[in-house]
Amino acid sequence: MREAAIVLAAGAGTRMKSKKPKVLHEILGRPLVMWPIAALAEADVDEVTVVVGPDDAAIQEAVSGTAGVAIQQEKLGTGDAAKAAMATEALKGFEGSVVVVYGDCPLITADTIRSLMDARAREDAGCVVLTFRAEDPFGYGRIVREDSFTEASPSGEVVAIVEQKDADEAHAAITECNSGFYCFDAAALRDALARITNDNAQGEYYLTDAIALLREDGRKVVALETARVEDCFGVNSRVQLAEAARIMQQRINRAHMEAGVTMLAPDLVWIGPDVTLARDVEILQNVTLMGNTRIGEDSLIGPDSRLTDTVVGAGCTVDETVAVEAQLDDGATAGPRAYLRPGAHLCAGAKAGTHVEIKKSVIGAGSKVPHLSYIGDATVGTGVNIGAGSITCNYDGAMKHATTIGDGAFIGSDTMMVAPVAIGRDVTVGAGSVITKDVPDEALAVARARESIYEDWTPRHRK
Ligand code: UD1
Ligand code: CA
Repeated sequence: MREAAIVLAAGAGTRMKSKKPKVLHEILGRPLVMWPIAALAEADVDEVTVVVGPDDAAIQEAVSGTAGVAIQQEKLGTGDAAKAAMATEALKGFEGSVVVVYGDCPLITADTIRSLMDARAREDAGCVVLTFRAEDPFGYGRIVREDSFTEASPSGEVVAIVEQKDADEAHAAITECNSGFYCFDAAALRDALARITNDNAQGEYYLTDAIALLREDGRKVVALETARVEDCFGVNSRVQLAEAARIMQQRINRAHMEAGVTMLAPDLVWIGPDVTLARDVEILQNVTLMGNTRIGEDSLIGPDSRLTDTVVGAGCTVDETVAVEAQLDDGATAGPRAYLRPGAHLCAGAKAGTHVEIKKSVIGAGSKVPHLSYIGDATVGTGVNIGAGSITCNYDGAMKHATTIGDGAFIGSDTMMVAPVAIGRDVTVGAGSVITKDVPDEALAVARARESIYEDWTPRHRK
């Protein structure tokens, strides 16, 4: 069966008190709306349509490439929003299952979506509604089953969903709640949406009214009660944004630990959803790994490190380091307090030590930049040692220039390499040199003022 999905995201999100649309606020580096879209993709849903308001260009841009968009001209209710989606080219003649989820519910999982779709296929239902029990159901639509008023634990088919504001005392006492996630038969949904009205307490077109209409059409409506209530968690405020982030953090970290990663303080570790960690990686406290970061076997990361889109090989140590779009090959070490900027590449066994900044440079295998250096636009060979305080002067105020350093070179401390400049293989550069001319292989280069000694100077000048 073909499967489509609608993500409702036309809400205003006023409680966020933000210039930005609610669903573009991020948890773990991913906008809210992209979480359900990712779950739908993982559940193999073929066609996803996101419903946005007419002024939500930023949301359209964020989802482009992963989902189609339907514009809901006016926020007339969830039923009207679903109608806008069903009217798009993508869904107009669609036959099969249509899953409905919310763009502000990031914790929905592929498993839950799959179980909705499976239940619909199994039961040949017009709709399967995901429900949960709440001690305090206030605010949620209530699930009215055939036996809701006669049985203590009703298990019959669903006859209607009644919104809080339309509920009488008996409805309000029902504790089974509508999560807002459904799987509909596309044709049945289309038929029902054509007939819903806004004749209710809120004057809105309720998607929930489709349930009673499906029943009238003789279609079965099944409730799938979930014990995973957190899957249905919606974000309406920044406090809830933090709560959702915390739950997602726990899920992700737990999965990594179960796959063989050590984290003794998982509450202090934030790992994005696209990060991959190999077996026996150890992550210490206050580490943030984001984007497409990948860490190889036996590497130790942290404490206090932030890696974004960075690839770390096996057996590396990364201590108190910030890295963005950097690469560390097997056995490389960084920090404490290194800053690896885009294009920094430490080859196998190379080292970027304390207070070292590296940008767009290759540091060859086994080469070391141990202390207080800036290396930019440089190609450094293998087995090179760059002494403390040495810097590539790569910028002349207008343009960036390259530095090359040959294999086995020894760069004395406090050397300024004024680019463009090439330093040959097995060169030794005297400490404190300002190198402006290329240095041939195996030469010694010293470029500093000679030391002058004035004997007995102190007694003559101090009274
Ligand atoms: C809805 C359900 C309720 C359920 C609850 C779960 C209806 C009528 N009620 O209530 O049964 O218990 O969700 O959270 O569906 N949206 C649009 N366009 C609109 C209106 C809403 O895109 O015109 C989107 C919102 O951005 C939001 C979602 O739909 O993400 C839910 O809308 P909201 O009005 O908050 O519904 P609830 O009152 O919470
Ligand atoms: Ca809501």
